[in-house]
Amino acid sequence: MINKELVKKRFEKSLKTYNDNAIAQKHMAKTLIDYLPCYNYNSILEIGCATGILTGYIKEKLHFCQFYANDIVCKASKYIDKIIPGNIFINGDIEEIILNNKYDLIISNACLQWCSDIEKTISKLMKALNKKGILAFSTFGDNNLKEIKKIFNFENRLYSTEQLKNILNRYNILSFEEEEIRLEFDTPVDILRHLKNTGANALVQMTLTKSKLKNFEEKYCELYRTKQSVYLTYNPVYTVITNYS
Ligand SMILES: C[S@@+](CC[C@H](N)C(=O)[O-])C[C@H]1O[C@@H](n2cnc3c(N)ncnc32)[C@H](O)[C@@H]1O
Repeated sequence: MINKELVKKRFEKSLKTYNDNAIAQKHMAKTLIDYLPCYNYNSILEIGCATGILTGYIKEKLHFCQFYANDIVCKASKYIDKIIPGNIFINGDIEEIILNNKYDLIISNACLQWCSDIEKTISKLMKALNKKGILAFSTFGDNNLKEIKKIFNFENRLYSTEQLKNILNRYNILSFEEEEIRLEFDTPVDILRHLKNTGANALVQMTLTKSKLKNFEEKYCELYRTKQSVYLTYNPVYTVITNYS
């Protein structure tokens, strides 16, 4: 189960540092927009908008009349107001809130992996689409942050691409793509800082003692070092689905 209070707390804390550190998520937002089959929509709902990296691309690339933004963190709304004034902000956990409207496009970047039941959430979102509506989202495959998971021995709760595709097979899949991105850092501590600054440290509630930190640094350098840096892998998956064929 996902600790939603921790997710909320960590993302709220990272809002100020998110944009400068979310390199992979920025790339994902841009790529997701490129997979859309059409650039005109009457109504759009964005899930997990945070500081509005994807929102910025939506404003730049898409034509729309009504824009709805959602995030579990209420403070995200002030960032979205600056990008799309007049938006309607729906605060809350996407797994819990009731979606009363129907949308032409529901879109989400790097958020749905924080759902306890992604299959149920996708089904809920598909029911909130208009007849010819589209659900487009990016999430992460099970190789995401594999270095961190290995060293800390975290349980891997992310779906493999095959598992995710099986979930989506009941819908009409317009796009399903994955990639791996490697980010380079000077030291393992920079990697921990990077995770904190993007809120990804909500993965686990853990305090690092001095000796645990030293152990982490040594192990990281031993396993994931290139000549000048240490690396961290992101594994984005991009999906565009509809209810009709
Ligand atoms: C990695 S950030 C992605 C931010 C943004 N979509 C972007 O393009 O950069 C994930 C966001 O999803 C939000 N979030 C996580 N779980 C959520 C949930 N269950 N319901 C709504 N928002 C959620 C977090 O608060 C955070 O702002």
